[in-house]
Parts: sequence; C-alpha cells; structure tokens
Amino acid sequence: MGDKNYTIDALELGPAENFIYLIQDHATKQAAIVDPAWDVPKAIELMNERGYKITDILLTHSHHDHINGIQDVLDVYDAELHILKPEAEFWGDKDQKPTLHYGGDEIMVGETAIKMLHTPGHTPGSTCYHLNNDLLTGDTMFVFGCGRCDFTGGDPEQMFNTLNKIRTELPASTRILPGHNYAVKKTSTLEEQIKGNPFFHQHNVEDFVKFRMNTPKRKSPYEAELESNCGHDH
Ligand SMILES: [Fe+2]
Repeated sequence: MGDKNYTIDALELGPAENFIYLIQDHATKQAAIVDPAWDVPKAIELMNERGYKITDILLTHSHHDHINGIQDVLDVYDAELHILKPEAEFWGDKDQKPTLHYGGDEIMVGETAIKMLHTPGHTPGSTCYHLNNDLLTGDTMFVFGCGRCDFTGGDPEQMFNTLNKIRTELPASTRILPGHNYAVKKTSTLEEQIKGNPFFHQHNVEDFVKFRMNTPKRKSPYEAELESNCGHDH
C-alpha cells in the first residue's frame, strides 16, 4: 500500500453515537461527507479550517439518523448526492435528486477513488464504501457487531451473505470504519472482527438468522467474543 493521498476523519455526533466521516482528497482539497446527520455545521467548520470543500455526499443507507443533515450540506455546498438504486427505491424520497449507482461503481472525489459495495441485510440497498485499505461499513458491520435485520427492509439471510462476502473477498488487514460508536473501540480490522465478532461465528445461514433475530438489541459497548466462548462445538 503506497502513501495515502487522502485523510479520513470521524465525527461522533447525535444521540445515537453516529459516526459522520469526512474523506479528504489532499491533491484537490475536495471532500466527501458520509452520512451527514445531526451536527453538520461541525463538519463544515472543520472543512473550512482546513481549506476543504465538500463536493460529494455518500450515503450508506437511508435511515433517519444517517441522513438528517443532507439539506444542511446542500445549503452550503453544491454537492452531489450518491446512493445505490435499490436504497433510493426503498427510501422513496421525492425531494432529493441523488445520483443512482449500482454495486461496484466508483466515485471520484478529486483524485481519490471510492468503490461502492452493495451490502444488503440492514436495508435493501445498504452500501459499504471501499478505498485503499479502508472500509466504511455504515450499519452493515459494527466493531464486534452488525446491523439489525428486524426493521422494514431488513433481511438476515442477505446479511449472512453480505458478511461472508466481506470476509472472503477483502484483505484481513482492511480497516473497519463503522456507522456507530457502539463498541469498546472506534475502529478495527477485518482480521480482528473475524476472530472477535460473534456475527462471524455463525457458520450457516440458519444459525445466523436465529442469532441475529433473537438478539435485536445487544448490550453495548460491544467487545470481542472469542469463538470458543460462543457455545458451539467447532
Ligand atoms: Fe440504520
């Protein structure tokens, strides 16, 4: 991995411990804001201090706590709003005019390429954003947790497949940047999650669905649970 030509900052904002991320492209001083919500002026202030301009809004999904600051961004910047087509259809918002994408699409923020991964399960068009060795996971994966699948549009079978894909297709060193600060630490690696995230310890879809749906609310802060402690015989 060469020198990174971007910086990612996380702001923890709002009553649900949301992480709002700012991806800043060094070469052009353009920035993307991921899931703008709650206290957007704080993000704008940071960008002004650093001389960056927000050109893009990236949504991981359309739940209220991840999008309630879109207009606050658009009031200040002429930014392009990005979302996967299946999430836009699920969202059904008529006021926004987002750019609709498909999984695998790449968004350029200045000279920084960001790939959209379609990761359904929490919502039909949930998206993880992948750049370099960083994965912004929204409510798909948390540090030692994963998004609920019992809300409208949720699907635990899809979540099982999504997590399997992430586990098998991305490098173990991938840095996980989740949508909420629910755990004992703010970020992690995929390797650490495969070892310590109980949702990676359900090895078939039936076990996973049962585990996910029987524990809609887990006690936070989440911490590592090693597989030998999970009661299964492997
Ligand atoms: Fe959500």
